[in-house]
Amino acid sequence: MGDKKILCVGLVCLDIINVLDKYPEEDTDSRCLSQRWQRGGNASNSCTVLALLGAPCAFLGSLAPGPVAENLPDVTATDFSKVDLTQYSWIHWEGRNAEEQVKMIQQVALFNRSLPQQQRITISVEIEKTMEPLYQLFPYGDIVFISKDVAMHFGFHSAASALQELYHRVKKGAVLICAWAEKGADALGPDGVVVHSDAFSPEVLVDTLGAGDTFNASVIYCLSHGGSLQEALMFGCQVAGRKCGVHGYDGIVEQKK
Ligand SMILES: Nc1ncnc2c1ncn2[C@@H]1O[C@H](COP(=O)(O)OP(=O)(O)O)[C@@H](O)[C@H]1O
Ligand SMILES: [Mg+2]
Repeated sequence: MGDKKILCVGLVCLDIINVLDKYPEEDTDSRCLSQRWQRGGNASNSCTVLALLGAPCAFLGSLAPGPVAENLPDVTATDFSKVDLTQYSWIHWEGRNAEEQVKMIQQVALFNRSLPQQQRITISVEIEKTMEPLYQLFPYGDIVFISKDVAMHFGFHSAASALQELYHRVKKGAVLICAWAEKGADALGPDGVVVHSDAFSPEVLVDTLGAGDTFNASVIYCLSHGGSLQEALMFGCQVAGRKCGVHGYDGIVEQKK
């Protein structure tokens, strides 16, 4: 794919993180140990991790012109039509305004039809939130990430059972992936075999915010570099596990000297 980029479409926002020594009880006040402001949003976090892994990447989303964001609009299909698709080998959508996102994906599918197989853009989608309209995204990804929340919302108690029962929703040949916090992650592709990786727990669990975004980015990175599904799951869990051992993202990828 040369130096084509991975594009992530979705949210960038400001996370205000208060660190406490234990989870606060409802209706109590407690002094926090520290506070930090950190760039967040799933698509933005995944770009952070892709960049740390050394993959050329880009972000598409709304940015606030001032210090306080007010009702930023989601990216529309009209916005997306201005993207130069020839620059990208992979486009990932964080499921948000699904109806518009379907139209964006259809633009890419149309573009792909003009290209030989190896030059086509891979399409991935993330269905993280348990919102009915997002479920229309299932048949549009080559790779579809669902969260534990979504799996449980459908009544499943394990990643493997969710994958087997939800696989009929994805398109022919697609891969469905479900991460399950400290239980690791599972994936199911067209061969019908569920693959699994255990989680890689850090010595001390420090911060799980963005673990899923880290996992998604690392899986995308590995698959886009020719890794197998099993390798991608393990790599995703390894990097996500290291992320859980630090605040933010510093040091989750060993920097090559
Ligand atoms: N407590 C944990 N210990 C070790 N690894 C974890 C832990 N929580 C998350 N992870 C890793 O991060 C991945 C994604 O975590 P998950 O909790 O499913 O997503 P989210 O960040 O959306 O809550 C998991 O597959 C696992 O590899
Ligand atoms: Mg979690």
